[in-house]
Amino acid sequence: MGYENIIAETTEGGAGLIRLNRPKALNALNGALMKELADALRAFEADDSTGCMVLTGSPKAFAAGADISEMAGLEYPGVYVDDFLSGWEALSACRKPVIAAVSGFALGGGCELAMMCDIIIAARTAKFGQPEIRLGIIPGAGGTQRLARAIGKARAMDMILTGRMMDAGEALQAGLVSRVVEEDALLDEALKAARTIAGFGRAAVLAAKEAVNAGMDMPLSAGLRFERRLFHALFATRDQKEGMAAFLEKRKADFSGG
Ligand code: CAA
Repeated sequence: MGYENIIAETTEGGAGLIRLNRPKALNALNGALMKELADALRAFEADDSTGCMVLTGSPKAFAAGADISEMAGLEYPGVYVDDFLSGWEALSACRKPVIAAVSGFALGGGCELAMMCDIIIAARTAKFGQPEIRLGIIPGAGGTQRLARAIGKARAMDMILTGRMMDAGEALQAGLVSRVVEEDALLDEALKAARTIAGFGRAAVLAAKEAVNAGMDMPLSAGLRFERRLFHALFATRDQKEGMAAFLEKRKADFSGG
């Protein structure tokens, strides 16, 4: 695929892999990169053989934030009228799961990008932060909202108001990431998880992601009702028949995606 700021490839077992690739700028997220990322995600979404995507950066940086050199000259009328950063929502609009494999800096928009993913797996070298306050702004791609939901108001306020970084151990303890692994095992761990997910029934995977995300925006009673409806709907799939038959017959399920 002909991208200049990312590398996208299909790997075995239904895992799509996207690497952010502006190493000299620590993968600073400029408009061109974000457009390519949205295009690559859309291509994986449309590809039946892909069941889950992994998004990663380089050993030094997942991404050091929105591109400051691109933002420095922007003015209010332009950012407001063009709804600057609204294009970033492409990632959170994905229906297939996306795993962020983070090593090095995940700052500002980089941390926000990781939080738009469904699972964050971190290398021991990972450092998370929302340092926008140091630039005279605040997070603009979900940092104040997703970080507070992920790690609670007290810690999120601490991070966002002081601009300090959190290392991988603190991020694990705070619940921002679900696993911490050695740097050289990071990509394998993320791809292994992606292949596991891609091997399950497609409808069940999409429904699980949809139910968890919908619940973040709803009162508990509405979330429980929403979950129940999706749960019921999965009894209309061949994969439910196959999954339960395989369990009873003591064999591995062969999900067809139907
Ligand atoms: N935008 C543009 N360029 C960036 C960048 C960014 N966010 N982060 C790093 N770079 C560039 C540097 O300018 C530098 O380029 P040159 O070699 O051409 O000078 C190169 O990447 C390497 O960076 P450093 O020399 O600074 O590397 P370091 O190891 O000394 O420091 C760092 C690393 C602590 C991550 C530091 O680069 C840094 O603080 N970066 C900015 C982090 C930041 O403020 N992010 C938030 C951006 S605002 C935002 O994201 C808004 C939003 O909500 C979407």
